[in-house]
Amino acid sequence: MRVVVNAAMSADGKIALRGGNPLTLSDDADMRRVQDMRAKSDAIVVGIGTVLADDPSLLAKTPGVKQPIRVVLDSKAQTPPNARVLNGAARTVVYVAKGNARRFPNADCVEAGEGRVDLRLVLRDLQARGAQSVMVEGGATVIGSFLRMGLVDDLYTWLAPVVVGGGAPSLVEGPGAERAEHVLKLKLAEATLLGKGVLLHYVPGG
Ligand SMILES: NC(=O)c1ccc[n+]([C@@H]2O[C@H](COP(=O)([O-])OP(=O)(O)OC[C@H]3O[C@@H](n4cnc5c(N)ncnc54)[C@H](OP(=O)(O)O)[C@@H]3O)[C@@H](O)[C@H]2O)c1
Repeated sequence: MRVVVNAAMSADGKIALRGGNPLTLSDDADMRRVQDMRAKSDAIVVGIGTVLADDPSLLAKTPGVKQPIRVVLDSKAQTPPNARVLNGAARTVVYVAKGNARRFPNADCVEAGEGRVDLRLVLRDLQARGAQSVMVEGGATVIGSFLRMGLVDDLYTWLAPVVVGGGAPSLVEGPGAERAEHVLKLKLAEATLLGKGVLLHYVPGG
């Protein structure tokens, strides 16, 4: 299973506004790239934080493409019934922790993990549903988990020419490295000027 993380961030590494309020960072050129990436993915993964903050539809808008499976990581089953991911426009799976399964409109609810959703079980279940490539679109906490577990094959981040400043979520949240030897090492595979920003493509290693 190939796991690709994609996110847009400001020049100071923030992916939203102070307090987590949504901010559209991508310009038209980057949005086209994101749509292209969605169209080539079998599943798109977000955390419940992103569903509650942004209410994304997670649809591939390229005409004629097969819609990827929309995936929400939601241990406590808090996805609101009127969330766009539950609008029936594409298949959706909500992964919850053991004991928290409930009925969601237009979606499968799958228990995967004790206490918190287990990413390895999610990937295994998606594979069983025929997915071979997964695009992780956020947010910061989910991206942090995938990176820390060593599950990421490619990390794409588009840098917008804006500065958000303190108090806003960074590209990666969750427990950070306290010692230099604990930082996650990446290798820069490519840097490309795209639209008004820069697209950075990292792979594991360094
Ligand atoms: N710029 C961009 O490209 C971009 C893209 C997407 C989102 N965003 C922004 O990101 C922010 C949301 O980020 P966020 O960090 O608050 O939320 P998030 O990463 O979307 O969701 C985090 C939640 O996912 C759930 N989760 C379930 N299993 C998990 C696991 N194994 N590892 C980690 N999390 C797991 C946890 O809640 P439970 O324990 O309840 O399950 C966790 O609190 C918003 O401000 C949004 O605007 C920006």
